[in-house]
Amino acid sequence: MLSHLLHLEGIDSVVLESRSRDRVEQRQRAGILEQGTVDVLRASGVGDRMDRQGLVHEGIELRFDRECHRIDFPSLTGGRAVMVYAQTEVVKDLIARRLADGGHVLFEAEATAVEGISADGTSADKMDGGRPTITFRHGDAEHTLRCDVVVACDGFHGMGRRCVPAGTLHTWTRTYPFAWLGILADVPPSCDELIYARHERGFALHSMRSPTVSRLYLQVTPDADLADWSDERIWDELEARFAVHSDWNLERGPITEKGITPMRSFVAEPMRHGRLFLAGDAAHIVPPTGAKGLNLAVADVTLLARALTRWFADGDHAAVDAYSQTALRRVWRAEHFSYLMTTMLHPDPEAGDFECRLQLANLRYTVASTAAATVVAENYVGAASA
Ligand code: PHB
Repeated sequence: MLSHLLHLEGIDSVVLESRSRDRVEQRQRAGILEQGTVDVLRASGVGDRMDRQGLVHEGIELRFDRECHRIDFPSLTGGRAVMVYAQTEVVKDLIARRLADGGHVLFEAEATAVEGISADGTSADKMDGGRPTITFRHGDAEHTLRCDVVVACDGFHGMGRRCVPAGTLHTWTRTYPFAWLGILADVPPSCDELIYARHERGFALHSMRSPTVSRLYLQVTPDADLADWSDERIWDELEARFAVHSDWNLERGPITEKGITPMRSFVAEPMRHGRLFLAGDAAHIVPPTGAKGLNLAVADVTLLARALTRWFADGDHAAVDAYSQTALRRVWRAEHFSYLMTTMLHPDPEAGDFECRLQLANLRYTVASTAAATVVAENYVGAASA
């Protein structure tokens, strides 16, 4: 996305992707696009397929105590909604567009070192002087790339953030006493909108990828082993957690993929060191409840593309200097919302009955009060001011 936005401003970039094209085009991530994300994709000319194939969702269901409650987005957010369009499809569209535009996207290119990020890193300079270099392996050869700036968009486990000198970054980490077991199934979704269900047996989420492919999740323990989860056990457990008093049926179908996702909150500050910028998961992780990860990454790089454009065009470094602080306001808002959704909907196996009752009281309030429902709706669609 960043490479595409920079290209539109006439700025060259090289994307080093350590995985294969196939792998990044298949890897499952939440794909709920906020209006702001949809707007950026459309405005930059990569929204056509999304507009044809994406599903506009105007609400979600909160399910607890065997009852269904709908949170209506447009009425609570001044007309906003979200777009259900898989993250894999966004990635495919962006790769296709960069390659069609002659962009340099190198797959299976592994960066091994980044040097010189702070050699001349004060923003008062005009981009002359020392430039950082990236050393990377591609094919059988080692290469060196001399850059004006390096942007670490390489995820939580990437090497980018680790290039910042020790002691420079402040980090916050929270782990949760559960994980998500996610499946992809060749079966039409059993619902029109996403269902976030809280059940004594654990949280469950019914999401979708298309009118014929469903995506579902179950709360499991962090040490859960996929080998213990047969397809039948997964469907039985999902059925139990989604059960309601009214007649509602969970359709079953062939499971085509299974995986376990850890739940983590993480923030690193500041999101810049000299000529190295951090964006997306390299700088922050949210638990998936609320589907903020992709949206935060797109917001980061949209901000950064604008800031770098001004810096490169006329040496104006105000926006580059403000990047970290500006990005982090939205990041912390999303951190709070993801934490809220996670703690509201997952029974904590280590907590007692008191916490359980509080959780249910909070859920009941969330669906009964317009003010409380607005908190969920505004944050979900990305309209909450930070
Ligand atoms: C997904 O479709 O994978 C998904 C949707 C919503 C979430 C998390 C994941 O909150």
